[in-house]
Amino acid sequence: MTLIRTKVKDLLKTAPGAEVLAKGWVRTKRGNKEVAFVALNDGSTINNIQIVVDKTTTNPELLSKITTGACIAVRGKLVKSIGGGQAVEIQAAEIEIYGECDPVRFPLQKKDTSFEYLRTVAHMRPRTNTFGAVLRLRSQMAFAIHQYFHDKGFVYLHTPLITASDAEGAGNMFQVTTLDLTAPLPRDKKGGIDYGKDFFGRRTSLTVSGQLEGELGATALGEIYTFGPTFRAENSNTPRHLAEFWMIEPEMAFYDIHDNMVLAEDFIKSLVRYALENCYDDIKFLNDRYDDGLIERLQGVVNTEFKVLTYTEGIEILEKAVADGHKFEYPVSWGVDLQSEHERYLVETHFGRPVILTDYPKDIKAFYMKQNDDGKTVRGMDVLFPKIGEIIGGSEREADLGKINARIDELGMSRRTLEWYLDTRRFGSCPHSGFGLGFERLLLFITGMQNIRDVIPFPRTPKNAEF
Ligand code: 4AD
Ligand code: MG
Repeated sequence: MTLIRTKVKDLLKTAPGAEVLAKGWVRTKRGNKEVAFVALNDGSTINNIQIVVDKTTTNPELLSKITTGACIAVRGKLVKSIGGGQAVEIQAAEIEIYGECDPVRFPLQKKDTSFEYLRTVAHMRPRTNTFGAVLRLRSQMAFAIHQYFHDKGFVYLHTPLITASDAEGAGNMFQVTTLDLTAPLPRDKKGGIDYGKDFFGRRTSLTVSGQLEGELGATALGEIYTFGPTFRAENSNTPRHLAEFWMIEPEMAFYDIHDNMVLAEDFIKSLVRYALENCYDDIKFLNDRYDDGLIERLQGVVNTEFKVLTYTEGIEILEKAVADGHKFEYPVSWGVDLQSEHERYLVETHFGRPVILTDYPKDIKAFYMKQNDDGKTVRGMDVLFPKIGEIIGGSEREADLGKINARIDELGMSRRTLEWYLDTRRFGSCPHSGFGLGFERLLLFITGMQNIRDVIPFPRTPKNAEF
């Protein structure tokens, strides 16, 4: 009978005595004259399995090829471990080297493990403990998101990545074209670029949000969510911005702003609870290694009610803080877009818990938000989190065709490219709401990592699209 490979995660839960086959990458090798202790990891868990190699009976050449980073297969007996730290270990009977790893050239060296350095070798960093943990968590959370909405009966709607409309109206779009940029461009009668000659026969871009198509889905299927990549060509070099990030956007017919907030709070709490219940090993590793307040912060969010207040009330608190001597880098007054320092002051210093801010000035929010009767504010809501600031942005949507048209005109946007969207308001319009959760911002919170570039396998940021 040939032995089949057992994953390290399962080996560590197996009772001693069995003959086993393990495969993975060598994390470390240490030992003395007689034995070598090899820590082997295959990505299935943060924990390694210890391989005990009898040096006196092992071919020295083979032994010399067992170096950090090398890929090996080990057959042997699973025995109770004498040393501390692990319940079981493998007494190697036979070792096969799948792939050698030159210890001098291997990019992951013990001496340089700063996150800045690891970003320069992002193609190799999943082999480190930290990125293994982060990427397993990322995968688990994606699953938890689908499960959450599936259990609630939401329809998973696939919205396009290539689009001719600017969902947020902010003009931060990456253009998509097959026009030859090295040759003279086709021109229209007015001398502008003739996009009629481009691939789609019009000017197109990568989407900044699936919301507009999401609204079409919600006003037909009731409750939908999207989950996919979105793109923003903002030149923001911050620890919280990516040019390519993943967003989850639920959109619900018949939800008002209040229902929307209730869903957002329940959604985020459920995800954090899922992480604590299903990914404890990885979270514990990150907690112990980098941030010993992580687990407490996660539990805190699950167990506290979010504080809801209006933007106007938030500004009053911030203005009072300034009057009392608190220094912000950016000025605060009614009408400004809040900076992350302001959001974090409200969450971390003032309330000590997550905050939902509502009723923002219409001038700093997108055209689709439902207008309040005061003529100044809209029914938007941002969920603000400790360490992160804004994690969710959403709103009740303007359902009235006349009002939304007026707003589009006021903002100088083109109605022409939005006619299809406006049909939701023309034909059987209904009250509806939705929000967008930035997947990487959620992961920043759940992993305790400090920089958004470290919670996505291959980050895309200004001047950086390697790998
Ligand atoms: O607030 P935003 O721009 O809202 C929308 O896109 C709406 N269409 C959502 C909706 O109502 N359906 O973005 C939503 C969230 C933010 O709260 C933030 O978490 C994340 O997306 N986000 C980014 N994450 C990483 N990098 C960026 N450049 C981000 N921009 C927004
Ligand atoms: Mg926002």
